[in-house]
Amino acid sequence: MRRIVIVLLLLAATPLFAFDRQSNADYRSRRERLAAKLGKGTLVLFASTESEGPNALHGFRQNDDFFYLTGWREPGAALVVAANPYREILFLPAHNLSQEKWTGPKLGADSSDAASATGFERVDVLDHLRDELVKILPSPVAQVYTDLSDSGETASTIPIAWLRRANAFPNYISFADAKTPIAELRLIKDAGELTLLRKACDATVEAHKAAMRAVKPGVSEGEISALMQYEFQRRGCEMPSYSPIVGSGFNSTVLHYSANGGTMKSGDLVVMDVGGEYSMYAADVTRTLPVNGHFTDRQREIYDIVLGAQQAAVDAFVAGTSTIKGGDHALYRVAQEYINTHGKDLHGEPLAKYFIHGLGHYVGLAVHDVGSYAGALQPGTVFTIEPGIYIPEESLGVRIEDQYLVGEDGKLVCLTCAIPKKAEEVERAMAKK
Ligand code: GLY
Ligand code: MN
Ligand code: MN
Repeated sequence: MRRIVIVLLLLAATPLFAFDRQSNADYRSRRERLAAKLGKGTLVLFASTESEGPNALHGFRQNDDFFYLTGWREPGAALVVAANPYREILFLPAHNLSQEKWTGPKLGADSSDAASATGFERVDVLDHLRDELVKILPSPVAQVYTDLSDSGETASTIPIAWLRRANAFPNYISFADAKTPIAELRLIKDAGELTLLRKACDATVEAHKAAMRAVKPGVSEGEISALMQYEFQRRGCEMPSYSPIVGSGFNSTVLHYSANGGTMKSGDLVVMDVGGEYSMYAADVTRTLPVNGHFTDRQREIYDIVLGAQQAAVDAFVAGTSTIKGGDHALYRVAQEYINTHGKDLHGEPLAKYFIHGLGHYVGLAVHDVGSYAGALQPGTVFTIEPGIYIPEESLGVRIEDQYLVGEDGKLVCLTCAIPKKAEEVERAMAKK
């Protein structure tokens, strides 16, 4: 008995939701596949620096491409990968002990577990990056793939600035964009990524279900936003994947409404576009609810048209042929056509003009993930289908958004459809307080 108690105590002391990192082998295989794409080129990529965190509220977040290739979440690192023969080095910044007092201890290249913790056979100190590049880059002509949009000279990117100056010597170094070949890899999610995306979606599903029980007249939009963040963060998400949108009444027609400052009134609709990020992977989901638990006839009419448009896009989907937008097989066109041939506004006009955004986007490490919307949707891609109708004149906005995976068999798998969606299911879920 005592042993069971000790085991239980130990389990209780273990954080239930540590960050889920994929295996070192997964990240290494991405680097190898990238190297094969780069041919004679050499990749030089930099981590975000601590001062550049995208959002002060949630703290440091690693650059998506850097994380994708390394699984490394600490700031200020650099990555070099070259093929023929394959070489890779992870460079870590020298310790800054006074900063570590503020932001926590960091792993250094001198740590005995640097190789096992990172999965790199070679981990070196960032100060050596320049000398190593001189050794690795083939002479007389070298092609360096890097993030060309990163013009800042932070501590870690200074060697690239130096290389650019060295490029004053003609025919020595040319720079190429690393984002495109990395995006080609990121577009198709591997099994480990799908596990993380599912966890982001599962936690977000529970957040939306909790919101359905909590929405009622007199509750503020901010309270629902806070409740949803609580629900997905207690299930392991580290932060929202984007600014949560909870907009009721007229605010339901404002696409990127994120003030969430209103109070919900009986007779209004509320659009809740809220999703959590789990171990860097995003969920992006929208549901629209009648604040008092019952759609009016007009709200129901518009709601059913938006739902019908989403279903029409799902029904039209053919793996390897359909696109999000562009070409003859765009799902956008299917949804738009559905909206334009169902219902009317108060002036008898068709509704397509109130569908004012795209139908969807890829989702992965970024909520609006890399990938061409004109590309045919292949197995392993994850994307949203999110039609909406926004009629400011009627203070009536409806968006329904779910996240889908194209399965290996080419069939669409909805990752978020466990959230009630048909109008009567929504009303039933809201009645369960
Ligand atoms: N939440 C942002 C979007 O739906 O694209
Ligand atoms: Mn979206
Ligand atoms: Mn969304």
